Amino acid sequence: MTSPTPSAGIPHTVSPSTLVVSAGRPERSPGASLNPALTLSSTYVSQGVPAADEPMYGRMDTPAWHAFEEALGALEGGPLPALVFGSGMAAIAAALSLVPPGGRLVLPRHCYQVTLGYAADLAERSGVGVTLVDIADTDAVLAAVRGDDDRPADLLWVETPTNPMLEVADLPALVAGAHEAGALVGVDNTFATPLVQRPFEHGADVVVHSVTKYLAGHSDVVLGAALATDPALHERLHAYRTMHGAIAGPFEVWLALRGLRTLALRVERAQANALELARRLAEHPRVAEVRHPGLPGDPGHARAAALMDGYGAIIGLRPAGGPQAADALVAAVRLWVPATSLGGVESTLERRRRFATESVTVPEDLLRLSVGIEDVEDLWRDLADALDRLEVGTSCVSR
Ligand SMILES: Cc1ncc(COP(=O)(O)O)c(C=O)c1O
Repeated sequence: MTSPTPSAGIPHTVSPSTLVVSAGRPERSPGASLNPALTLSSTYVSQGVPAADEPMYGRMDTPAWHAFEEALGALEGGPLPALVFGSGMAAIAAALSLVPPGGRLVLPRHCYQVTLGYAADLAERSGVGVTLVDIADTDAVLAAVRGDDDRPADLLWVETPTNPMLEVADLPALVAGAHEAGALVGVDNTFATPLVQRPFEHGADVVVHSVTKYLAGHSDVVLGAALATDPALHERLHAYRTMHGAIAGPFEVWLALRGLRTLALRVERAQANALELARRLAEHPRVAEVRHPGLPGDPGHARAAALMDGYGAIIGLRPAGGPQAADALVAAVRLWVPATSLGGVESTLERRRRFATESVTVPEDLLRLSVGIEDVEDLWRDLADALDRLEVGTSCVSR
């Protein structure tokens, strides 16, 4: 695919894997820096009323954000730059603020657990009607968006693939149906990244990212971003960021842009590793179930093949032997890191239901594997060795 909105000066025909390298660069001139400067200033010289594009105060705007915002805007293919936020949750809170007090919000029953928690909070504090849906069931989602009392939802929130169940939504059908009903559509594109899925191409109104994950990619920053196609929505997100002070530090943004430069290589390698590991795990006698949209037998496979440019690098794994076996596996790996979060260069795994706040419909024994960019044979040996040592239902035998 080619980008419809390239960064300034970059030809229209470049692919996303070129944009990650080329977008958000300073103007070219003899002796100019190839990389944007790291600007550390909370305030800027100003007299009278500053022009709209003139920086004045660091909570409102700072040049430190612009290169990253321009690059992510170009990658998502929308008409406007991204808005960087202090975390993915700050960006999500801004997007969910588009639902007015007393309004209606439809969101996946399986999505990032803190997004679910925030929706519950909105229900309690602002009287927002929240409906949880199986995002893969298009008819049920659209029925929920339409509502049964002539009160359509204000916002349909989509994660695809979902965290941690990896369900895949029919995004074009959901956007068309939601718009017909009068609802906005917001998509958390963290799992796919814009290299694999660009929700604006399917008509979504808002896209958010936990930049903490693949975009920054090195498990060293917490950061978020939100994008909108409509200037009025963009302005509302911008105003939310300014008023709530949900802003990013200049150094975090600088690190995220540095990480973004290798996104294509990292995602390509991580996805290839994930598909290979998912195939091998599916054959392993001590594995009860593997979820990965790249496996032909996975419920999300056909949709992912049709709508995405890849299958992502997350695997859902249920070892035979239940939650105890899952915990034992996490304790037994040596190369994989037992840790939360995802999307870093290193492979991590965790049992999601260890958190009391995770949805109760997520199986107790589900491990979420975030596959990194290490050598796939090393990753496999470590996992296979830990699986081989599982005494089903108890623990790992040490050797
Ligand atoms: C899909 C998804 N969206 C959003 C978030 C929240 O991002 P952050 O931790 O940067 O606030 C996460 C965090 O795990 C996530 O997995």
